[in-house]
Amino acid sequence: MAVKYLKSAEEIPGSYGLPYFGEAIELFKEQQCFHLRRFNRYGPVYKTKIFNTKIACFVSPEANQRILKDEADKFSSRQVWKFIEPLLGNGIIFQDGVKHERSRKIMYPAFHGQAIAVYFEIVRNTVENFLAKWQHKKNIFLFNDLRQLNLIIGCQLFFGAQAESEVEKLNQWFSDLVEGIRTVVRWDIPLTKFGRARIARGKIEEFLSSIIARRRKENNSEKLEDVLDLLINSTDEEGDILSDSEIINEAIGLLYLAHENIAKMLCWVLFELAGNPDWLSKLRQEQSEIISKDRLQFLHLKNLTKIEWFLKEVERIYPSLYTIPRAVVEDFECEGYVIPKNWFVIVSPLLTHRSPLIYKNPDKFDPLRFAPPRQEDKKHPFALIGFGGGIHQCLGFELAQMEIKIILSMILKHYNWEISPKYGEIAPALQATKKIEEQMTIDVFPHSLT
Ligand code: HEM
Repeated sequence: MAVKYLKSAEEIPGSYGLPYFGEAIELFKEQQCFHLRRFNRYGPVYKTKIFNTKIACFVSPEANQRILKDEADKFSSRQVWKFIEPLLGNGIIFQDGVKHERSRKIMYPAFHGQAIAVYFEIVRNTVENFLAKWQHKKNIFLFNDLRQLNLIIGCQLFFGAQAESEVEKLNQWFSDLVEGIRTVVRWDIPLTKFGRARIARGKIEEFLSSIIARRRKENNSEKLEDVLDLLINSTDEEGDILSDSEIINEAIGLLYLAHENIAKMLCWVLFELAGNPDWLSKLRQEQSEIISKDRLQFLHLKNLTKIEWFLKEVERIYPSLYTIPRAVVEDFECEGYVIPKNWFVIVSPLLTHRSPLIYKNPDKFDPLRFAPPRQEDKKHPFALIGFGGGIHQCLGFELAQMEIKIILSMILKHYNWEISPKYGEIAPALQATKKIEEQMTIDVFPHSLT
């Protein structure tokens, strides 16, 4: 029998950078380029160090599957994200093992099947009202505006917040919370972003506690109108329910995940459509065939096939998370190396999606690669991982698809648009060293369906 020689993780090609910082400064400064450059230099396995943590990066669909699914019990999500727990709490995305399995079982019904159909009208009405205001605006900061729209949708879907004053308050608290998550300075005093975020979290907790108390008192398990109702009334197979503090943690985490990622993805959808007039007309053509001049209905959504190919291509080229990290809790052997406990491993949607072994001309924006018979993502179940994969795969995938399709359909129906920076200036955004989507501005002009 052949003896298998395994190498130490220290022998992985790559560098550790400066004492204490490691390569953190470069990572924050370079964004996407950080990983791309290392991949080009060292190949599909490389190492780095961010502050004191040594990290092994693996770029292949096979490694994605092993880390995210097959050998997921060798890794922890919680240990990676511990540092934002004071702000986001210990919700599902930060849980491991049995606790995570239980949360997933309890929360699954709130985001699948019938529940999504229940949310449709709320989303459509909110989007209609919000986008109608675009006609009076100039030079809209796209990411901020879409983030606000998704926060309003989230507040209504998750907590049933109807009154404008409630939504406004929540919007302000969540904006403070997000600022706190993004800041590196973590002093818990009122004048810092982190301190303001802690105060905002306290206010959101108070707000949610009072709604949960009211709902529990009403004890109306027939009326399942929003995510909070579903979370309050969901049970797992053993009949367990979520406690109030678990519901609050989950609700805050969900709203955070939902509004940031959808806004990012939509920025790139509108950006690519601005640069691809042929796709703009294809999507409008599909829309006029399926929706015609009717008001958008839930049943229309599943027939918007070309929009689905387009969204997959945006997910492929511009994944919201460039990398998905995990902390190693049990030695992990991969590509001939042993990665010991206390290292992190990283899989990369960004780099997997640019692999010429999976995608033909990977730098080209080409939604037809997802149309039959090509369906390039079907080569491997972990070839397209913009929504993650395996045990922590995005629970909000269906909701996100619905929201994005509704928002996009309304924009296609009512507006033409110009985006700055212009398409040719930055596409394909492979070499981006800034979070470009956060600086995009849009001007809209009325469009009427012919
Ligand atoms: C375009 C929009 C979205 C993108 C790109 C996205 C992406 C992701 C990714 C990559 C993960 C995996 C993280 C990991 O493995 O560590 C994830 C997990 C998750 N997402 Fe999303 N997401 C989106 C929208 C949403 C929405 C709308 C919700 C709202 C319900 C949501 C809820 C979740 C939850 C709960 C998890 C954790 C699941 C678990 O840990 O079991 N996401 N998402």
